[in-house]
Amino acid sequence: MHVDNTFYTVEQGRLAQIISKRSFGGKCFFSNSGAEANEGAIKLARKASPEGRYKIITMERSFHGRTFGAMSATAQAKTQHGFDPLLPGFVYVPFNDVDAVAKAITKETAAVMLEPIQGEGGVNIPDDNYLASLRELCDEHGLLLIFDEVQTGCGRTGKWFGYQNWNVEPDIMTLAKALGNGAPIGAIVAQPEVAEAFGPGTHASTYGANPLVVSAAIALFETIEQEGLLERVGQISQYILSQARSLQQRFGFIESVRGCGLMLAIELSLPGAPIVAAALERGLRVNCTQNSILRLLPAMTITEAEIDEAFEILATAMQETQSKLVSS
Ligand SMILES: Cc1ncc(COP(=O)(O)O)c(C=O)c1O
Repeated sequence: MHVDNTFYTVEQGRLAQIISKRSFGGKCFFSNSGAEANEGAIKLARKASPEGRYKIITMERSFHGRTFGAMSATAQAKTQHGFDPLLPGFVYVPFNDVDAVAKAITKETAAVMLEPIQGEGGVNIPDDNYLASLRELCDEHGLLLIFDEVQTGCGRTGKWFGYQNWNVEPDIMTLAKALGNGAPIGAIVAQPEVAEAFGPGTHASTYGANPLVVSAAIALFETIEQEGLLERVGQISQYILSQARSLQQRFGFIESVRGCGLMLAIELSLPGAPIVAAALERGLRVNCTQNSILRLLPAMTITEAEIDEAFEILATAMQETQSKLVSS
Protein backbone atom coordinates (compact mmCIF):
# COMPACT_ATOMS: atom_id res chain seq x y z
CA MET A 1 0.00 0.00 0.00
CA HIS A 2 2.89 2.38 0.60
CA VAL A 3 5.87 3.38 -1.49
CA ASP A 4 7.51 6.69 -0.62
CA ASN A 5 7.91 9.12 -3.48
CA THR A 6 11.62 8.51 -3.86
CA PHE A 7 10.45 5.70 -6.17
CA TYR A 8 8.35 5.69 -9.29
CA THR A 9 5.09 3.72 -9.26
CA VAL A 10 2.92 2.90 -12.24
CA GLU A 11 -0.10 4.65 -10.68
CA GLN A 12 1.84 7.85 -9.96
CA GLY A 13 3.02 7.99 -13.57
CA ARG A 14 -0.47 7.32 -14.90
CA LEU A 15 -2.08 10.04 -12.82
CA ALA A 16 0.61 12.55 -13.79
CA GLN A 17 0.01 11.70 -17.45
CA ILE A 18 -3.80 12.02 -17.06
CA ILE A 19 -3.48 15.49 -15.51
CA SER A 20 -0.74 16.62 -17.88
CA LYS A 21 -2.69 15.62 -21.00
CA ARG A 22 -5.83 17.41 -19.83
CA SER A 23 -3.98 20.58 -18.79
CA PHE A 24 -0.86 22.19 -20.26
CA GLY A 25 1.61 19.33 -20.58
CA GLY A 26 3.10 20.03 -17.15
CA LYS A 27 4.98 17.77 -14.77
CA CYS A 28 3.33 16.74 -11.49
CA PHE A 29 4.45 16.46 -7.89
CA PHE A 30 1.90 14.87 -5.54
CA SER A 31 1.27 16.02 -1.98
CA ASN A 32 -1.44 15.29 0.59
CA SER A 33 -3.54 18.47 0.67
CA GLY A 34 -4.20 21.82 -0.95
CA ALA A 35 -2.19 23.85 1.55
CA GLU A 36 0.77 21.54 1.07
CA ALA A 37 0.51 21.81 -2.73
CA ASN A 38 0.59 25.61 -2.36
CA GLU A 39 3.60 25.44 -0.02
CA GLY A 40 5.38 23.46 -2.73
CA ALA A 41 4.29 25.92 -5.42
CA ILE A 42 5.69 28.83 -3.38
CA LYS A 43 8.98 26.96 -2.92
CA LEU A 44 9.10 26.09 -6.62
CA ALA A 45 8.41 29.69 -7.68
CA ARG A 46 11.29 30.95 -5.53
CA LYS A 47 13.68 28.20 -6.63
CA ALA A 48 12.87 28.63 -10.34
CA SER A 49 13.30 32.43 -10.20
CA PRO A 50 16.57 34.33 -10.64
CA GLU A 51 18.58 35.21 -7.51
CA GLY A 52 16.98 38.04 -5.53
CA ARG A 53 13.49 37.49 -6.89
CA TYR A 54 11.36 36.02 -4.13
CA LYS A 55 8.22 38.13 -3.73
CA ILE A 56 4.81 36.80 -4.72
CA ILE A 57 1.82 39.04 -5.47
CA THR A 58 -1.46 37.56 -4.21
CA MET A 59 -5.04 38.85 -4.12
CA GLU A 60 -7.15 40.33 -1.35
CA ARG A 61 -9.85 37.87 -0.25
CA SER A 62 -7.78 34.95 -1.51
CA PHE A 63 -7.58 31.64 0.29
CA HIS A 64 -4.59 29.34 -0.13
CA GLY A 65 -4.58 27.25 3.07
CA ARG A 66 -3.60 27.22 6.74
CA THR A 67 0.10 26.28 6.76
CA PHE A 68 2.59 29.13 7.15
CA GLY A 69 3.45 29.84 3.53
CA ALA A 70 -0.10 29.28 2.29
CA MET A 71 -1.52 31.37 5.15
CA SER A 72 0.94 34.18 4.41
CA ALA A 73 -0.18 34.08 0.77
CA THR A 74 -3.82 34.29 1.93
CA ALA A 75 -4.64 38.01 1.98
CA GLN A 76 -7.30 37.89 4.69
CA ALA A 77 -6.70 39.33 8.17
CA LYS A 78 -9.06 36.83 9.82
CA THR A 79 -6.94 33.90 8.59
CA GLN A 80 -3.63 35.45 9.66
CA HIS A 81 -4.66 37.05 12.96
CA GLY A 82 -2.51 35.95 15.91
CA PHE A 83 0.15 34.13 13.87
CA ASP A 84 2.70 36.90 13.30
CA PRO A 85 5.39 37.00 12.10
CA LEU A 86 4.23 35.57 8.80
CA LEU A 87 6.46 34.31 6.00
CA PRO A 88 7.86 37.45 4.38
CA GLY A 89 7.62 38.19 0.67
CA PHE A 90 3.89 38.45 -0.06
CA VAL A 91 2.37 41.58 -1.54
CA TYR A 92 -1.42 41.91 -1.60
CA VAL A 93 -3.51 43.68 -4.25
CA PRO A 94 -7.27 43.73 -5.00
CA PHE A 95 -8.70 40.92 -7.17
CA ASN A 96 -9.72 41.86 -10.73
CA ASP A 97 -7.36 44.87 -10.78
CA VAL A 98 -4.57 44.47 -13.36
CA ASP A 99 -3.16 47.96 -12.76
CA ALA A 100 -2.68 47.19 -9.07
CA VAL A 101 -0.61 44.12 -10.01
CA ALA A 102 1.43 46.16 -12.51
CA LYS A 103 2.17 48.79 -9.84
CA ALA A 104 3.16 46.12 -7.28
CA ILE A 105 5.84 44.53 -9.51
CA THR A 106 9.46 45.28 -8.53
CA LYS A 107 12.84 43.70 -9.36
CA GLU A 108 12.26 41.39 -6.38
CA THR A 109 8.98 39.95 -7.72
CA ALA A 110 9.04 36.26 -8.64
CA ALA A 111 5.40 35.39 -9.26
CA VAL A 112 1.71 36.29 -9.27
CA MET A 113 -0.51 33.76 -7.51
CA LEU A 114 -4.31 33.58 -7.52
CA GLU A 115 -7.40 31.42 -7.67
CA PRO A 116 -8.95 31.80 -11.16
CA ILE A 117 -12.29 32.15 -9.32
CA GLN A 118 -12.00 33.10 -5.65
CA GLY A 119 -13.85 30.52 -3.56
CA GLU A 120 -13.64 31.40 0.11
CA GLY A 121 -13.50 35.08 -0.91
CA GLY A 122 -17.10 34.83 -2.12
CA VAL A 123 -17.17 33.15 -5.56
CA ASN A 124 -15.53 36.15 -7.23
CA ILE A 125 -15.44 35.55 -10.97
CA PRO A 126 -12.65 37.26 -12.98
CA ASP A 127 -13.51 39.92 -15.55
CA ASP A 128 -13.25 38.62 -19.13
CA ASN A 129 -9.69 39.86 -19.80
CA TYR A 130 -8.27 39.72 -16.28
CA LEU A 131 -6.39 36.43 -16.48
CA ALA A 132 -5.13 37.14 -20.02
CA SER A 133 -3.82 40.55 -18.90
CA LEU A 134 -2.05 38.96 -15.93
CA ARG A 135 -0.48 36.42 -18.30
CA GLU A 136 0.79 39.27 -20.50
CA LEU A 137 2.17 41.18 -17.50
CA CYS A 138 3.97 38.07 -16.22
CA ASP A 139 5.49 37.38 -19.65
CA GLU A 140 6.59 40.99 -20.00
CA HIS A 141 8.35 40.98 -16.60
CA GLY A 142 9.59 37.36 -16.59
CA LEU A 143 7.32 36.34 -13.69
CA LEU A 144 5.67 33.01 -13.00
CA LEU A 145 1.88 32.83 -13.03
CA ILE A 146 0.50 30.43 -10.40
CA PHE A 147 -3.13 29.32 -10.41
CA ASP A 148 -4.47 27.80 -7.20
CA GLU A 149 -7.05 25.41 -8.66
CA VAL A 150 -7.62 23.56 -5.39
CA GLN A 151 -11.30 24.55 -5.51
CA THR A 152 -11.84 25.34 -9.21
CA GLY A 153 -10.02 22.28 -10.56
CA CYS A 154 -11.06 18.76 -11.57
CA GLY A 155 -14.36 19.61 -13.25
CA ARG A 156 -16.08 21.98 -10.84
CA THR A 157 -16.48 24.76 -13.40
CA GLY A 158 -17.45 22.45 -16.28
CA LYS A 159 -13.89 22.36 -17.64
CA TRP A 160 -11.15 20.14 -16.29
CA PHE A 161 -9.43 23.20 -14.84
CA GLY A 162 -10.91 26.61 -14.13
CA TYR A 163 -8.37 28.53 -16.23
CA GLN A 164 -9.66 26.72 -19.34
CA ASN A 165 -12.78 28.92 -19.21
CA TRP A 166 -10.50 31.84 -20.17
CA ASN A 167 -7.85 29.96 -22.21
CA VAL A 168 -5.00 31.34 -20.14
CA GLU A 169 -2.29 28.87 -19.11
CA PRO A 170 -0.34 29.19 -15.86
CA ASP A 171 3.28 28.23 -15.26
CA ILE A 172 2.30 26.41 -12.07
CA MET A 173 -1.10 25.05 -11.00
CA THR A 174 -2.08 23.46 -7.69
CA LEU A 175 -4.85 20.91 -7.18
CA ALA A 176 -6.43 19.08 -4.23
CA LYS A 177 -10.03 18.70 -2.90
CA ALA A 178 -11.91 17.00 -5.78
CA LEU A 179 -8.67 15.45 -7.11
CA GLY A 180 -9.02 12.54 -4.69
CA ASN A 181 -12.81 12.82 -4.41
CA GLY A 182 -12.50 12.25 -0.65
CA ALA A 183 -9.06 10.65 -0.55
CA PRO A 184 -6.35 13.06 0.69
CA ILE A 185 -4.20 14.16 -2.23
CA GLY A 186 -2.84 17.40 -3.67
CA ALA A 187 -0.73 18.16 -6.72
CA ILE A 188 1.65 20.77 -8.07
CA VAL A 189 1.59 20.84 -11.85
CA ALA A 190 4.36 22.89 -13.49
CA GLN A 191 5.61 23.66 -16.98
CA PRO A 192 8.53 21.22 -17.56
CA GLU A 193 11.21 23.97 -17.62
CA VAL A 194 9.89 25.33 -14.28
CA ALA A 195 9.60 21.85 -12.73
CA GLU A 196 13.30 21.28 -13.41
CA ALA A 197 14.14 23.67 -10.57
CA PHE A 198 13.11 20.90 -8.15
CA GLY A 199 16.00 18.45 -8.28
CA PRO A 200 16.42 15.44 -5.98
CA GLY A 201 16.43 16.47 -2.31
CA THR A 202 14.71 19.82 -2.83
CA HIS A 203 11.12 18.74 -2.19
CA ALA A 204 9.54 15.48 -1.06
CA SER A 205 6.65 13.96 0.88
CA THR A 206 6.43 10.56 2.57
CA TYR A 207 2.83 9.94 1.58
CA GLY A 208 2.89 12.01 -1.61
CA ALA A 209 1.73 9.84 -4.54
CA ASN A 210 0.69 7.06 -2.15
CA PRO A 211 -0.63 4.36 -4.55
CA LEU A 212 -4.00 4.12 -2.76
CA VAL A 213 -4.90 7.82 -3.08
CA VAL A 214 -3.39 8.12 -6.53
CA SER A 215 -5.65 5.24 -7.66
CA ALA A 216 -8.64 7.14 -6.24
CA ALA A 217 -7.65 10.19 -8.29
CA ILE A 218 -7.29 8.09 -11.45
CA ALA A 219 -10.79 6.71 -10.79
CA LEU A 220 -12.10 10.28 -10.50
CA PHE A 221 -10.90 11.21 -13.99
CA GLU A 222 -12.12 7.92 -15.48
CA THR A 223 -15.56 8.24 -13.87
CA ILE A 224 -16.08 11.86 -14.90
CA GLU A 225 -15.23 10.88 -18.48
CA GLN A 226 -17.24 7.65 -18.56
CA GLU A 227 -20.33 9.35 -17.12
CA GLY A 228 -20.03 12.52 -19.23
CA LEU A 229 -20.13 14.64 -16.08
CA LEU A 230 -18.18 17.62 -17.43
CA GLU A 231 -20.83 18.10 -20.11
CA ARG A 232 -23.57 17.93 -17.46
CA VAL A 233 -22.13 20.73 -15.33
CA GLY A 234 -23.26 23.60 -17.59
CA GLN A 235 -26.81 22.31 -17.74
CA ILE A 236 -27.12 21.78 -13.96
CA SER A 237 -25.50 25.15 -13.35
CA GLN A 238 -28.19 26.91 -15.41
CA TYR A 239 -30.89 25.00 -13.55
CA ILE A 240 -29.49 26.05 -10.15
CA LEU A 241 -29.08 29.67 -11.30
CA SER A 242 -32.71 29.79 -12.45
CA GLN A 243 -33.86 28.43 -9.08
CA ALA A 244 -31.67 30.97 -7.28
CA ARG A 245 -33.12 33.80 -9.40
CA SER A 246 -36.65 32.73 -8.45
CA LEU A 247 -35.61 32.95 -4.80
CA GLN A 248 -34.21 36.41 -5.50
CA GLN A 249 -37.62 37.57 -6.74
CA ARG A 250 -39.17 36.29 -3.52
CA PHE A 251 -36.68 37.62 -0.97
CA GLY A 252 -35.60 41.27 -1.11
CA PHE A 253 -32.46 40.54 0.92
CA ILE A 254 -30.90 38.58 -1.96
CA GLU A 255 -28.63 41.11 -3.63
CA SER A 256 -27.19 39.01 -6.43
CA VAL A 257 -26.84 35.52 -7.81
CA ARG A 258 -23.78 34.35 -9.77
CA GLY A 259 -21.84 31.27 -10.70
CA CYS A 260 -19.50 29.47 -13.02
CA GLY A 261 -20.33 25.78 -13.46
CA LEU A 262 -20.96 24.30 -10.04
CA MET A 263 -19.34 27.12 -8.11
CA LEU A 264 -22.27 29.36 -7.26
CA ALA A 265 -23.15 32.17 -4.87
CA ILE A 266 -26.23 33.85 -3.49
CA GLU A 267 -25.15 37.19 -2.04
CA LEU A 268 -27.31 38.58 0.79
CA SER A 269 -27.67 42.00 2.34
CA LEU A 270 -27.75 40.34 5.79
CA PRO A 271 -25.65 37.76 7.67
CA GLY A 272 -26.09 34.28 6.24
CA ALA A 273 -25.41 32.25 9.43
CA PRO A 274 -29.10 31.93 10.52
CA ILE A 275 -30.07 30.69 7.04
CA VAL A 276 -27.21 28.17 7.04
CA ALA A 277 -28.29 26.90 10.50
CA ALA A 278 -31.98 26.66 9.53
CA ALA A 279 -31.08 24.80 6.32
CA LEU A 280 -28.79 22.37 8.17
CA GLU A 281 -31.60 21.57 10.63
CA ARG A 282 -33.61 20.42 7.62
CA GLY A 283 -30.76 18.37 6.18
CA LEU A 284 -29.27 20.82 3.67
CA ARG A 285 -25.61 21.75 4.00
CA VAL A 286 -24.73 25.15 2.47
CA ASN A 287 -21.77 27.31 3.34
CA CYS A 288 -21.69 31.01 4.13
CA THR A 289 -18.52 32.89 3.33
CA GLN A 290 -17.53 36.53 3.91
CA ASN A 291 -20.45 36.76 6.37
CA SER A 292 -23.20 37.23 3.78
CA ILE A 293 -22.46 35.10 0.71
CA LEU A 294 -24.08 31.66 0.50
CA ARG A 295 -21.69 29.48 -1.46
CA LEU A 296 -23.13 26.47 -3.27
CA LEU A 297 -20.70 23.76 -4.40
CA PRO A 298 -22.87 20.73 -5.17
CA ALA A 299 -21.60 17.38 -6.43
CA MET A 300 -21.40 16.89 -10.19
CA THR A 301 -23.79 13.96 -9.81
CA ILE A 302 -26.60 16.02 -8.26
CA THR A 303 -30.02 15.43 -9.88
CA GLU A 304 -32.66 18.02 -10.76
CA ALA A 305 -34.98 16.45 -8.15
CA GLU A 306 -32.30 16.93 -5.49
CA ILE A 307 -31.81 20.55 -6.57
CA ASP A 308 -35.60 21.13 -6.26
CA GLU A 309 -35.52 19.63 -2.76
CA ALA A 310 -32.51 21.76 -1.79
CA PHE A 311 -34.19 24.96 -2.95
CA GLU A 312 -37.42 24.11 -1.10
CA ILE A 313 -35.34 23.81 2.10
CA LEU A 314 -33.45 27.00 1.30
CA ALA A 315 -36.71 28.88 0.71
CA THR A 316 -38.10 27.63 4.05
CA ALA A 317 -34.87 28.64 5.82
CA MET A 318 -35.02 32.10 4.24
CA GLN A 319 -38.70 32.50 5.05
CA GLU A 320 -38.01 31.58 8.67
CA THR A 321 -35.13 34.08 8.87
CA GLN A 322 -37.26 36.81 7.31
CA SER A 323 -40.14 36.17 9.72
CA LYS A 324 -37.76 36.41 12.69
CA LEU A 325 -36.39 39.70 11.35
CA VAL A 326 -39.88 41.14 10.97
CA SER A 327 -40.96 40.06 14.46
CA SER A 328 -37.79 41.31 16.21
C1 LIG B 1 -8.44 27.74 -3.19
C2 LIG B 1 -7.97 26.91 -2.04
N1 LIG B 1 -6.66 26.70 -1.87
C3 LIG B 1 -6.19 25.94 -0.86
C4 LIG B 1 -7.04 25.38 0.06
C5 LIG B 1 -6.48 24.55 1.17
O1 LIG B 1 -6.69 23.20 0.90
P1 LIG B 1 -6.58 22.09 2.07
O2 LIG B 1 -7.71 22.32 3.01
O3 LIG B 1 -6.65 20.78 1.34
O4 LIG B 1 -5.25 22.30 2.71
C6 LIG B 1 -8.42 25.58 -0.06
C7 LIG B 1 -9.34 25.01 0.93
O5 LIG B 1 -10.44 25.46 1.15
C8 LIG B 1 -8.90 26.37 -1.13
O6 LIG B 1 -10.20 26.60 -1.29
